Amino acid sequence: LSANEISEIKATWAIPAATPSESGQAILLEFFRRYPANLQKFKDFKDMTLDELKVSPRFHAHANKIILTFDEAIKTLGTDESPAALQKIWSKIATSHVKRGISRESYMELKEVILEILTAVCKLNAEQQAAWDKLVTAVYDIIFKTMDDLGK
Ligand code: HEM
Repeated sequence: LSANEISEIKATWAIPAATPSESGQAILLEFFRRYPANLQKFKDFKDMTLDELKVSPRFHAHANKIILTFDEAIKTLGTDESPAALQKIWSKIATSHVKRGISRESYMELKEVILEILTAVCKLNAEQQAAWDKLVTAVYDIIFKTMDDLGK
């Protein structure tokens, strides 16, 4: 990522990061609405309707975790520690999710929803969308490489 791409990401991230719970919930609700098979991976949620999910504390907690992971990663961008920090953050996600049987396809479905919601919430222009796509692609490269190494 170029210095300019990093500054666009940091500036636009400030918008969803100001209301992390709402942003995370908007992303996850749309993810489950559009790709309901993913709900089956959550043993506590799988029999809930989207309306029930909206008021579930476990659902709120998980939505927050996704936002916090991105927040942690975005904070390191532009620092010397960034490559090592990103490797650590995202290989950990990959490892914990392999245990839950989360597929590459599920990640790609989530990526589509994340980019779409960010574009709407932050009114991203084409250049900013490309920078975000590049960031998600870079962290997904770490996830997928870790899955390869784990034989998944
Ligand atoms: C748990 C983040 C993608 C399903 C978690 C946790 C974090 C997290 C931080 C809790 C700590 C841990 O166990 O690692 C993320 C991030 C993602 C992502 C940053 C991608 C950008 C997905 C996808 C699915 C998924 C695509 C597919 C269904 C789950 C499940 C749990 C979990 C089932 C356990 C929840 C619970 O038992 O309460 N995720 N996740 N995650 N994630 Fe993800």
